[in-house]
Amino acid sequence: MSVRIIGTGSALPVRCVGNGELEALVDTSDEWIRERTGICSRYVSTGETVASLAAAACAHALEDAGKESGEVELLLIATCTPEDALPCVACQVQERIGAVNAVAFDLNAACAGFLFALHTAWAYIEAGIYRNALVAGAEVLSKIIDWTDRGTCILFGDGAGAVYLEKCETGGQNGILGFAQHSDGRRGPVLSCVGRQSGNPYFRQEPLYPYVRMDGREVFAFAVRQVPEAIREAVGKAGIGVEDVDLFVLHQANRRILEGIAKRLSVDMERFPMNLDRVGNTSSAAIPLLLDELRHNGRIVPGMTLVLSGFGAGLTYGACVLRW
Ligand code: COA
Repeated sequence: MSVRIIGTGSALPVRCVGNGELEALVDTSDEWIRERTGICSRYVSTGETVASLAAAACAHALEDAGKESGEVELLLIATCTPEDALPCVACQVQERIGAVNAVAFDLNAACAGFLFALHTAWAYIEAGIYRNALVAGAEVLSKIIDWTDRGTCILFGDGAGAVYLEKCETGGQNGILGFAQHSDGRRGPVLSCVGRQSGNPYFRQEPLYPYVRMDGREVFAFAVRQVPEAIREAVGKAGIGVEDVDLFVLHQANRRILEGIAKRLSVDMERFPMNLDRVGNTSSAAIPLLLDELRHNGRIVPGMTLVLSGFGAGLTYGACVLRW
C-alpha cells in the first residue's frame, strides 16, 4: 500500500506586476531585486481571494486526477492569509467546489504550511481514517504586505496550488518515503505579522502595525543552515542518499537561498527547478504551484524521486521524500 499524489492544479491572479512597476512605489530597482532575489515579477490580487484561488486550484487537481468533488474525504487548506477568521477557508472551498462529503479545515505553518498539510493528510490516510485527500496551499499575501516597505513588498506574490492524493494498492515503493518537520517558536519575531485590532471594550490596545515584519538576513541564514539538515534527515529516513534525488522542489523564497542550500548539499542547481522569477514568494502556495508546473511541462515523470522542502515563519521547516 502507498499514498500517492495522482493530481495537481494551480491558480494565479490575472494581474502580473513586474519589478519595474514597483520602482514607482518604493525606492528600489529591477536590477537590485533580480540580483538579490532572482524575482522578476509576481501576481497580485485585484479581487481574487484565498478561497477563490484555492477553489480553482483544487478543481484543477481533481480534474487532473479524474475524480469528482463528492469523492473527497479530507480537504485541507494551508494558508496564513485567510480572508475571514470564520469560517475557515477549507469550508469556503468545500462549498465552492461541492466537496460535500469531505471534512474540511485549515492549517497554518506559514511557508511550510503546504508541506505540513501534506504530511497531515498522509498520516490520516496511512492510519486508515480517510482514503483520499485534497490538499492546497493558497495565499493572498498582498493584503498583509506594507507596500511602502521595500524590504518586503518586492518579495511576495499571490496564488494557490493543490494536490489530490489517495491510497493506492500498488506494489513497490511509491508515494511518501520519508519526512522531517520542525518548529522553533523562540524565533517567531524574525518573521511575523500581528492579527486584527481587538474591539474588546475592557482591554484597550495600542494601534497595531498589521503588516509583515521581517529580519531578512536572519531568515536567509536560518533557511541556508536548517533546510539542508531537514533534507538530509528526510532522505535518511527514506533510506536513500541525496545523490538519489532527481529533483528538489523547494519553497520559492529567493534564488540565493536555493543556491546556498544546493551548495551545502553538494547538489547541482539543475536539480533545483525554480519559478520564483515569475511568481515571487507565494508562501504555502509555492511548492504545489511549482509541482503543478513541473508535472505539466513534463519535468516530473513516474518513477522519479523528489524532495519537497518548505521553510518560513514560526519558524517552521521540513522536508518530504516521495517517489512519483
Ligand atoms: N531595493 C533597493 N535596496 C534595498 C531594498 C530594495 N527593495 N531592500 C533593502 N534595500 C537596501 C537596504 O536598505 C540596505 O541598504 P543600506 O546598506 O543603505 O542599509 C541594503 O539594501 C542591503 O540590505 P540587506 O537587508 O543587507 O540586503 P540583503 O542582501 O540581505 O537582501 C533580502 C535583502 C530581503 C533580499 C534578503 O535578506 C533575503 O532574501 N532574505 C530572506 C527573506 C525571505 O526569503 N523571506 C521569506 C522566507 S519564507
